[in-house]
Amino acid sequence: MVVGGARLAGEVRVTGAKNSVLKLMAASLLAEGTTTLTAVPDILDVAIMSEVLRRLGCTVERGEGTVTITVPAVLGHEADYDLVRRMRASIAVLGPLVARCGEARVALPGGDAIGSRGLDFHIAGLTKLGATVETVRGNLHVTASRLVGTHVWLDFPSVGATENLLMAGVLAQGTTTVDNAAREPEIVDLCEFLLQMGAQIEGIGTSTLVVEGVERLAPVPTHDTVTDRIVAGTYATAAVMTQGDVLVRGGQARHLEIALDKLVQAGATIDLEEGGFRVRMDRRPKAVDVVTLPYPGFPTDLQPMVLAMNAVAEGTAMVTENVFEARWMFVNELTRLGAEVRTDGHHAVVRGRQRLSGAPVTAHDIRAGAALVLAGLVADGTTEVHEVHHVDRGYQDFLPSLVALGADVRRETVPDVPF
Ligand code: UD1
Repeated sequence: MVVGGARLAGEVRVTGAKNSVLKLMAASLLAEGTTTLTAVPDILDVAIMSEVLRRLGCTVERGEGTVTITVPAVLGHEADYDLVRRMRASIAVLGPLVARCGEARVALPGGDAIGSRGLDFHIAGLTKLGATVETVRGNLHVTASRLVGTHVWLDFPSVGATENLLMAGVLAQGTTTVDNAAREPEIVDLCEFLLQMGAQIEGIGTSTLVVEGVERLAPVPTHDTVTDRIVAGTYATAAVMTQGDVLVRGGQARHLEIALDKLVQAGATIDLEEGGFRVRMDRRPKAVDVVTLPYPGFPTDLQPMVLAMNAVAEGTAMVTENVFEARWMFVNELTRLGAEVRTDGHHAVVRGRQRLSGAPVTAHDIRAGAALVLAGLVADGTTEVHEVHHVDRGYQDFLPSLVALGADVRRETVPDVPF
């Protein structure tokens, strides 16, 4: 329940990135022994990945902002549908399991309702590395007695496929080159973690990754997860929308260059501070055109937030979505709040209004859920965001953080209706 009208002011702290820590947890499977990750967010997806690892035979312990994983000498190789359907990122265990066990059986994932999200690049890449991939009763069954390094070109710089191929390549025989690789900061974090394990990787942060396979890897005593640029960008956009003044502690501006530049174009002042950045806004935002692209382009995961900002901006903006085709489901919800948005193919034209008006809406994925809460902050009256549990998958303490910044937001449990 979001009561609109508050101006956000104060400080918010950003933890480690969901999209990094889940892959680091999967990568820990590559070595027997104990690995500790720090700056781990307390979110549902980390709990789900912990359970995936436990079922593979690992011991997983959560501490304050940490996760400690002990990987046994002999691992299981199956990830079941009941967990994988709850979180698509479970597919990240595919590469490490094939590399370590020569076999993986992973259910075909579900995940966010934001598009088809195929696995063809993962499958084509692993096949090129010498694996046999079959689909058996809803599971991907991948086998390889030993993966052999090769040259893989990705049709699109897929984050998940780049990660799986990296994690397969580090224990393959010979050299694996991944061309048109994704370059997200979370991939750089994974590469740095793999280096700590003893992997040999060149071209980190570029679109050509060259991996020299090694015989074995070692567990990592401690690795600090990169901070969550999407969470940081969410609070930054909230500050702009509410004409507020927010210090985003832990936010790394260098990972958000285009996104923060868009906020500056909208009229915000952004100052780099020790260990974070401060976002100030003293007027109604100006509409800004945005085109989502793989990193370093504007992140698709911040598209719903910037679309919500444009819905209350001065002027008209064109938002183009190039990464996930079904992200417009969110637009239908935003129009329930009075937003003027028209979509056509990859494009959405948003005509800004002075204010939105509170109404019941439904979150279909993590980012849409967060963006609907932001929209509620600038809507008259109360906005009820249903199925807000999606937000728990990616944002630690989202509501308490907004409340600490001055927002009037609370959570209510809706009783089950018998029809
Ligand atoms: C990851 C992020 C997600 C982010 C996305 C793009 C995690 C857990 N999730 O998702 O938050 O929005 O990157 O930055 O890290 N595709 C194919 N075939 C494939 C693989 C991908 O067609 O084999 C398509 C997808 O349908 C999508 C596009 O490529 O349209 C991008 O997908 P990808 O980069 O792989 O995203 P994820 O790794 O799923």
